Amino acid sequence: MAGSTSPIAEKTFGVTIEKLNKSFDGVPVLKDISLEVKPGEIFVIMGPSGSGKSVLLRHVAGLEVPTSGCVHIGEFDPADPATRQQIHLALVFQAGALFNSLSVYDNLALYPREHRLGNEAQIRDRVMHALQILSLEKAVAQYPAELSGGMKKRVAIARALVMEPQLLLYDEPTSELDPVMSATIIEIIAALREHTAVTTIVVSHDRTLAMSIADRIAIIMDGRIRAIGGVADFEHPANPAIANFLNPTIDLKNPRFKQLENDHE
Ligand SMILES: Nc1ncnc2c1ncn2[C@@H]1O[C@H](COP(=O)(O)OP(=O)(O)OP(=O)(O)O)[C@@H](O)[C@H]1O
Ligand SMILES: [Mg+2]
Repeated sequence: MAGSTSPIAEKTFGVTIEKLNKSFDGVPVLKDISLEVKPGEIFVIMGPSGSGKSVLLRHVAGLEVPTSGCVHIGEFDPADPATRQQIHLALVFQAGALFNSLSVYDNLALYPREHRLGNEAQIRDRVMHALQILSLEKAVAQYPAELSGGMKKRVAIARALVMEPQLLLYDEPTSELDPVMSATIIEIIAALREHTAVTTIVVSHDRTLAMSIADRIAIIMDGRIRAIGGVADFEHPANPAIANFLNPTIDLKNPRFKQLENDHE
């Protein structure tokens, strides 16, 4: 976060993925994924539901082990527990992954308390600052069950900020949010990168997010990278599958579900 004096938070790391394959029970989910995220970059991974985006992000976070191929953060293997001593990494989970038995305050204070990142007053400053950034001060004493889906999402982002990450991974940060809160989150993601040069990987369906803040975009379909490029490369994509994904037409005369029914006949 801005103004940090922690030496660890001053380094940024790139991410390298080489020929990554992942199968669950013999069913391939990620197929020969290779890509490089540069230090300090905002890299957005887009793709249809079920295409493997969350599984890919979980590999970068060290929560999945590749079936073959490798993932590196700088020179470190994210699946090696010792890596967490070297790198502050935060993953904002798709569903928030808050602890239901803890208040919003205690959810945010958990990591700095466990890692002894200051006394209780300093931790309180950090927590309240993060809550303020996400307009959540009033929710400080509430429990996750009392929050809306969008508020849970913002609490999850605030919890990641408290960790002063050098690598920040977001899984669908704007889903379930109203358009204004979505725009706010997009601005926050961009501002954090500006202030701290934090390497940022965002998995999202949100075209506005990708087109407004990405340095580069990758499209994943059916477990394979189909395209990687800058924003300009995706303004008028030539590939019909990518064009249809980014700009689907609504055809009430020939709707998709009718086409599916015809395919089954
Ligand atoms: N632990 C697991 N065991 C078995 N299959 C899994 C596991 N995790 C994910 N999968 C499968 O991998 C595929 C990709 O899942 P993933 O969650 O990465 O999709 P996604 O692109 O994030 O989709 P969405 O946009 O809906 O979040 C799906 O078919 C899913 O069922
Ligand atoms: Mg997902």
